[in-house]
Amino acid sequence: VTAEKAGYDHFMLKEIYEQPKAYRDTMGARIDDAGKRIVLDEVKMTAQQIQDIHQIHIVACGTAYHAGLVGKSVIESLARIPVEVEVASEYRYRNPIITPNTLVIVVSQSGETADTLAALKEAKRCGARVLAITNVVGSSVSREADDVIVTWAGPEIAVASTKAYTSQLIAFYLLGLYFAQTLGMQEAEVIEETIQALRQLPEQVESILADAEKIKVYAEQISKHDNLFFIGRGLDYAVAQEGSLKLKEISYIHSEAYAAGELKHGTLALIEEGIPVIALATQEELLEKTVSNIKEVAARGAYVMGVGSEGNEEIAKAVDELFTIPRTLPLLTPALSVVPLQLLSYYASLARGNDVDKPRNLAKSVTVE
Ligand code: G6P
Repeated sequence: VTAEKAGYDHFMLKEIYEQPKAYRDTMGARIDDAGKRIVLDEVKMTAQQIQDIHQIHIVACGTAYHAGLVGKSVIESLARIPVEVEVASEYRYRNPIITPNTLVIVVSQSGETADTLAALKEAKRCGARVLAITNVVGSSVSREADDVIVTWAGPEIAVASTKAYTSQLIAFYLLGLYFAQTLGMQEAEVIEETIQALRQLPEQVESILADAEKIKVYAEQISKHDNLFFIGRGLDYAVAQEGSLKLKEISYIHSEAYAAGELKHGTLALIEEGIPVIALATQEELLEKTVSNIKEVAARGAYVMGVGSEGNEEIAKAVDELFTIPRTLPLLTPALSVVPLQLLSYYASLARGNDVDKPRNLAKSVTVE
């Protein structure tokens, strides 16, 4: 077993450290040699079929659903196709409006999740085309879907998903760019600039991992609490939701992710002296607003850990602790900012003496509806 963990104490930690490789492998030959275009041969849709897509539904469970939340922003901002994201167990039973011009994207690490599979079948029954993003070649989801983008994260053993999630983000970046390029929705320079930034991500993740000790100290502090909050706006909110789920799954600390601007409509009542708040503030154009939300919780006694982009003075002044991530395009920050949150959950779980890789009550793959 030690050998399988390649010297790491847990599969989760090993998988967190495998992310730079997972990013590289998932991008692989899907970017042309010149770094100018996306090559997605596995998507069999013709240019006309892509033009005919009126709406996209992203359907998934758990962490894969959270990848879908990022996917929505990515596709909408790059390709300007309207996207809705829904958990599979809700989508399946509410008679959603699916037409032959709907593309349904199912996201599933295992490709075996019963709710996701049922949603896929329902979508097909209604005449939609289904594209799957999955980590398992030959899985049920990959066999039923019309198009399959495989994430090359390699086997994920820990119940808490890490490298599968981030590889799903990479798949969405590639797909969003591919649609944009096919539809002529972005200038060639924008596509090229995004590709360039994508290619820098693996090294940037490596630099975050080299800073893990910083997170460990903070994780040990929060492990003593029973409640905390994650806040963020836009893509930071999507990542906050994944960070919160990760923490709940393995540390059993109750946490809630909140859209930072929504705090004042209720949750602010729960902020009291000493409560930890993890604030994500990587979105340049929302920064001022997020910083003002950070000040709102800090003024009520919250102990704030910020996650911001390097060189950002404003957030540094507003928080108690700051973890910085390397600079990238605003759209790509989730692929970096989630990494400190994964480490935070890992070390908090460890500090609490939990079974990190096999949290109570949870299964890696849920094959019942
Ligand atoms: C289970 C796992 C989660 C995972 C979810 C969806 O609940 O514990 O980590 O996100 O299933 O799994 P899938 O294989 O469909 O991505």
